[in-house]
Amino acid sequence: MKSTSVFDATLIQLPAISQEKGNITAINSNIEVPFDISRVYYLYDVPGGAARGGHAHIELQQLIVAASGSFDIILDDGIVKRTFSLNRPNIGLYMPSGLWRELDNFSSGAICLVLASHEYSEEDYLRTYSEFKEWKNE
Ligand code: TYD
Repeated sequence: MKSTSVFDATLIQLPAISQEKGNITAINSNIEVPFDISRVYYLYDVPGGAARGGHAHIELQQLIVAASGSFDIILDDGIVKRTFSLNRPNIGLYMPSGLWRELDNFSSGAICLVLASHEYSEEDYLRTYSEFKEWKNE
């Protein structure tokens, strides 16, 4: 949505089934996340100092989890910026559509797990900040 603000993004505590032999976290469509999950992807082997993201989505909603390690997500609605540090596999950041995002500060071995509401579509991306600002102000 064009009118989305960074305050519409929320950290979601995901349930953990804890046992002595380890933990399990399960994420279901419309239960732990407020959308139908259509796609799962993950970023890994991110070199130290690299930044990812640098775009916004018109429709796509996502939940991002640091499945391993840690990284920062900087959200920007064109007016306000908000930074989230993810470092636990049972905490997810819910990101509605219409926010500019950058990911950086990846620890070595970090895995950025993303649950997404739609299949990949390049038409859903706003790839430049000026395009994003124009779209927000339409
Ligand atoms: P992009 O979303 O720009 O990566 P990031 O935001 O992490 O920097 O995607 C990088 C490339 O991978 C781009 O060419 C599109 C491709 N890609 C797919 O083909 N399918 C996908 O599901 C994703 C997320 C990316």
